[in-house]
Amino acid sequence: MAEQSLYERLGGIYTIAAVVDHFGDALANDPIVGENSANSFLKDWYANKSWRGAGFKVLTTLWVSEKAGGPYHYVSTEPNQDSLDLEPTHYDMKLTEEEFDAAGQLLAETLDHFDVPDREKNEVLDAFMAHKNEVISGTIK
Ligand code: HEM
Repeated sequence: MAEQSLYERLGGIYTIAAVVDHFGDALANDPIVGENSANSFLKDWYANKSWRGAGFKVLTTLWVSEKAGGPYHYVSTEPNQDSLDLEPTHYDMKLTEEEFDAAGQLLAETLDHFDVPDREKNEVLDAFMAHKNEVISGTIK
């Protein structure tokens, strides 16, 4: 029997959406990347653009689904190099490595909250890390 994809092992689109929903809320409450962030883009986003949060969760759910080998596909709202490239949508945020790592810590805690097994947890975290340079491109380029 063929090996199940990460998408299937995570439990499919509803599980991924629940994880992203929890992760998005955790980001908002975090001192480094949340409403009181020292990053001016993030601070303004929470103060004036938080209505975009639902769309952020939809798009991120689709991104994770595609990355994990699922049947749903992400389309960036900005022209990008390949379907999962995050540089055009994150460049202007001027995110730092510290901010990226804080988000990674919250993602790890979220996966623990949902009792995602170690193998799948590590694969999700590896997928997150694989796009680090795109996400922090605004401070490294
Ligand atoms: C590999 C890590 C990450 C992934 C997979 C990811 C995924 C996404 C996706 C799919 C979108 C929607 C982009 C679009 O408009 O098409 C998005 C937007 C956004 N991301 Fe990320 N992201 C990552 C890292 C981060 C980090 C570290 C932060 C902040 C600490 C962040 C903050 C945001 C915000 C505020 C938006 C909304 C932008 C808007 O309103 O247009 N992201 N992200």
